[in-house]
Amino acid sequence: MLNNENVIFFKSLLRAPLKTGAFFPSSKNLASSISSFVNLPESDEYVIELGAGTGRLTSALLERGIPCSQLIILEMQPSLAKFLRKAFPLVTVIEGSATDLLSLLPEKTIGNIKTIVSGIPMVNLRFHEQQQIITAIKNVMKTNGALLQFTYRPGSPLPSNKLALNQRYLGHVLLNMPPAAIWEYKNSLHPISFTATENFRRASI
Ligand SMILES: C[S@@+](CC[C@H](N)C(=O)[O-])C[C@H]1O[C@@H](n2cnc3c(N)ncnc32)[C@H](O)[C@@H]1O
Repeated sequence: MLNNENVIFFKSLLRAPLKTGAFFPSSKNLASSISSFVNLPESDEYVIELGAGTGRLTSALLERGIPCSQLIILEMQPSLAKFLRKAFPLVTVIEGSATDLLSLLPEKTIGNIKTIVSGIPMVNLRFHEQQQIITAIKNVMKTNGALLQFTYRPGSPLPSNKLALNQRYLGHVLLNMPPAAIWEYKNSLHPISFTATENFRRASI
């Protein structure tokens, strides 16, 4: 279990425990389960990953069939961003915080983002930080776009009512350390249709 990836991840945990939020990268089971909820983007659409860590979800998203050119990943810790650039030379890796999404993303992507997948440990954040990230997401996302978020805690990792979000529990993945639940969020101020997630089914692995 102590391969290079785990060592780099563990160092980031020591440096920024609350931001890293886990002892290990996501398992392949969790990564592929989340990815299975991501609809393939149309040719002018993008998928964004927030808090990419060492790229477990990135690999699963690429395996799911998201083209490298339509996947943009964001990581705030410089050492992890450097690791990701080496591991995924064809994917756009942005070093920075999700709170600054609007200014960090290439202009052509704004309003053309169908899905955002997040590994950011939202439950460790103060409400105003959660609010900043959700506002940034709403500013860049397509109408009816979806945020997919995993969490290790029981219940929704975001206070949906206060953040004007509609939430949906998608399922849980036991084969992860620790077991994780997957949630989907949509802007409640837009007319929403959860059926837009065509491949919806409850995950339980
Ligand atoms: C639980 S780890 C998940 C890593 C990876 N996605 C995985 O599933 O293995 C959380 C990651 O989110 C990053 N992170 C935390 N807050 C962030 C923020 N505001 N913007 C960008 N990345 C953030 C951390 O540095 C860490 O790499």
